[in-house]
Amino acid sequence: MADSIRIAPSILSADMANLQRDLDRIANADFIHFDVMDGHFTGNLTFGVDVLKAVKRVSDVPVDVHMMVTDPDHMADWFADAGADIITVHWEASTHLNRTIRHLQERGVKAGVVLNPATPVCLLESVIEDVDMVLLMSVNPGFGGQRFIPGTLSKLRELRALCELHGVAPMIEVDGGVSAKNAAQVVEAGADVLVAGSAVFGSDDPAAEVELLRAIGTAALRGAE
Ligand code: DX5
Ligand code: ZN
Repeated sequence: MADSIRIAPSILSADMANLQRDLDRIANADFIHFDVMDGHFTGNLTFGVDVLKAVKRVSDVPVDVHMMVTDPDHMADWFADAGADIITVHWEASTHLNRTIRHLQERGVKAGVVLNPATPVCLLESVIEDVDMVLLMSVNPGFGGQRFIPGTLSKLRELRALCELHGVAPMIEVDGGVSAKNAAQVVEAGADVLVAGSAVFGSDDPAAEVELLRAIGTAALRGAE
């Protein structure tokens, strides 16, 4: 288990007309969460590689690319070329998950798998030893500002048990509806990376919100040990 909880603000909730200003406001984050949507896998369309290159030019914070696209096996390399530090692909969309994970790792990019809320954790059995990160969606992907789905907590506990059974410790990330209200519960259930979009960028002081989430999460982690 990690020593402290890591916070990944989702720039889906940033002001695109002032992206550099908003990136400067979260310079204390552990990761920048970069939501790629293709208009097919989800009913929304977001950013491509040119935006990722722009982010990499102005921020030193490692970028965690969440690929919500129907063909991640094909598109992941585009984002690796553009400087992604971590790339996660959806289990539901990847036909060649094992190959894509290994390929990204061979390129020096950390690679992970994402599960939608309705996709069971047991499906990770054959890939859990190979991934650097597992991302559990706690909303149905597509938009920021949705409500956290409580069933995610039991999936987190199940995932933690699966990791222990296999003797591995990938980063466990949760994405959707995370805020200061539920951060402790999410960490107690097993998460160590918290994505937060509207909670961070909807705050008057995004850097302080990052610190708050990290403090709440890290206190919960110490309590859970
Ligand atoms: C949802 C995205 C999330 C989103 C989270 O499809 O994957 O990363 O930005 O936003 P909040 O924290 O507002 O739920
Ligand atoms: Zn995301």
